[in-house]
Amino acid sequence: MSYYDYIIVGSGIAGLYTALLAKEQGSVLIITKGSIDDCNTKHAQGGVAAAIGKDDSVELHFQDTMAAGDGLCDEEAVRILVNEAPDRITDLVNFGVPFDTLNGEVALTIEAAHSVPRILHAGGDATGEHIEVTLSKQVRSSRIQVLEDCLATEILVERKTVKGIKALDCRTGSIEEFGCGSLILATGGAGQLFKFNTNSDIATGDGIALAYKARAEIVDLEFFQFHPTALRLPGVTPFLISEAVRGEGGILRNVDGYNFMSDYTPERDLAPRDVVARSILYEMEKTGSDRAFIDVTHLPPHVTTTRFPHIYRFCLDHGLDITKGLIPVAPAAHYMMGGIKTNTWGETNIAGLFATGETACTGVHGANRLASNSMLEVLVFSKRIMEKTRKRTATEAPTTREGVEAHYSLSQREFSEVVPPPSLSALQQLLWDDIGIIRNKEGLTKSVNILAAWQRSLPQPTDRPSYELNNLVLTGRLVAEAALLRQESRGAHFRSDFPQSSPQWQHHILFTLK
Ligand code: SIN
Repeated sequence: MSYYDYIIVGSGIAGLYTALLAKEQGSVLIITKGSIDDCNTKHAQGGVAAAIGKDDSVELHFQDTMAAGDGLCDEEAVRILVNEAPDRITDLVNFGVPFDTLNGEVALTIEAAHSVPRILHAGGDATGEHIEVTLSKQVRSSRIQVLEDCLATEILVERKTVKGIKALDCRTGSIEEFGCGSLILATGGAGQLFKFNTNSDIATGDGIALAYKARAEIVDLEFFQFHPTALRLPGVTPFLISEAVRGEGGILRNVDGYNFMSDYTPERDLAPRDVVARSILYEMEKTGSDRAFIDVTHLPPHVTTTRFPHIYRFCLDHGLDITKGLIPVAPAAHYMMGGIKTNTWGETNIAGLFATGETACTGVHGANRLASNSMLEVLVFSKRIMEKTRKRTATEAPTTREGVEAHYSLSQREFSEVVPPPSLSALQQLLWDDIGIIRNKEGLTKSVNILAAWQRSLPQPTDRPSYELNNLVLTGRLVAEAALLRQESRGAHFRSDFPQSSPQWQHHILFTLK
């Protein structure tokens, strides 16, 4: 079996950035299930948050992040995030990421729940694509080995220590084993759980499923962020209409043309994401429409076309000139706040197993992520994984935080009703209907039972789609069980039967395989 100092699973910003740092410390293999550029990163529009503006401070960034997290952020992790942000931005600039400038200074925009403009962007609204292209070019021209079309299927663990990984060659169907010193999961999120989502096809909860089966701790999965504004056009996959569009003056309107946000919150169009997503949903219900609209027609056309070239072009390609007409939008699943529990060095409870990016839960997002903190989290905590492994200090498993965590395992569930056969579309419909933006006991109970029945009936996976469906069903069940347990509303988790938050629930829900 071939051996590497580092094996990294995934090739978005988390996988590539970590690999570029790791190559300075040893041999590196990246395993990615598609091509190197198949990832969520390239869909990221808004940008990367960092307190580098004149009117900004790390303290302000800290306060905004804590406020968004609604009582569940890990304060130490957030301090690290905001303090280390400016240095990590410099790293990206040194790798060649061309952040936009204005009058010779880095251009900063504002997004919801930020007190000041602090979002760096590239190519207007193509930040993720610029980062991905820049980093993947660096990786391709380095000695890092990359295995494309290779899907990780099992983490090899002996005596609570990682030994390597099993992976499926998606082209031949054969399974191979690779040994490593450190295994870093950078597999992204699980947006494909939901019928309407802004994620790429790769977002199938692979890291959660791999880590859970290896007995890693999974935390905060009930907190799934729904982006308020994804393009809603018949037959068109939901496409992100960045929050920065409202940051630059875009206005939400209902189907009758009314700017409704002031009816719901004094923060209006720039209220936190969960508030805007629910307001849009209520407004859609009220007006009997399946969409709301963003209006940018009052902005000078050149502002729209230069600041949002990607969105402008995508809409134009679908017959809509957004400088003249309203953009139809509706909420869509966007980001998984929870994930594989790590400490502030990216370590899990299994020695040698690390997680970074959306699949990890470092504690910085709490119950609701502040916009544009996600790529920043990747940069800060991937760097710390590398510092940790360079020093080769003994692995400190994240400790249980007494009173702050409640531990659970999945149990058997008997369900007498006839369950439709498991399929991607049935799963996405179920989660959208019952574990979406607004949840209740009835829908959640039905869902956990169906998901448990699917877990029992799914055949042994043999190829990429069947592994992905298995991973989604397990991840979906963990999301549903956590959402059923949490009898309150907090951050992105909203229960119509428990619409208030409760101090009794100011703790994390954690799942581990028994
Ligand atoms: C957006 O551009 O609205 C998304 C940014 C993010 O999810 O942080």
